[in-house]
Amino acid sequence: MRVALPILLAGFLIANTAMADQALAKAKNCLSCHTIDKKIVGPAYQDVARKYAGQKDAPELLAGKIMKGGAGVWGVIPMPVNSQVNESEAKKLANWVLSLK
Ligand code: HEC
Repeated sequence: MRVALPILLAGFLIANTAMADQALAKAKNCLSCHTIDKKIVGPAYQDVARKYAGQKDAPELLAGKIMKGGAGVWGVIPMPVNSQVNESEAKKLANWVLSLK
């Protein structure tokens, strides 16, 4: 029990943050073009996480794309500017996406 409780607590906290970030993605309309595990209009977030795994500047790079939009990385459809997202939200979302591999 002495060991199990902190582990359980840590697990709960991690799961909780991940859910909060998913709720943010939903609130910011990201999930109308993206899902976690399937490509719809935009790439699956798991594919994004795999592509940038190990790339140190990925959080900043993706936070920038999330705010300003992007094109030509995943196909012919561009991602529009997401002006409803501020910088700190974009960073949160980028880190969340990168955690999904
Ligand atoms: C209108 C549809 C649409 C919406 C809304 C949208 N995206 Fe995208 N997203 C795309 C498309 C299409 C791409 C692929 C662009 C490309 O090929 O470079 C993409 C790419 C991405 C990438 C990968 C960028 C790269 O260069 O590898 C991330 C991360 C991402 N979106 C996150 C988000 C987040 C977070 C939101 C919500 C704030 C969001 N998207 C909202 C369509 C959308």
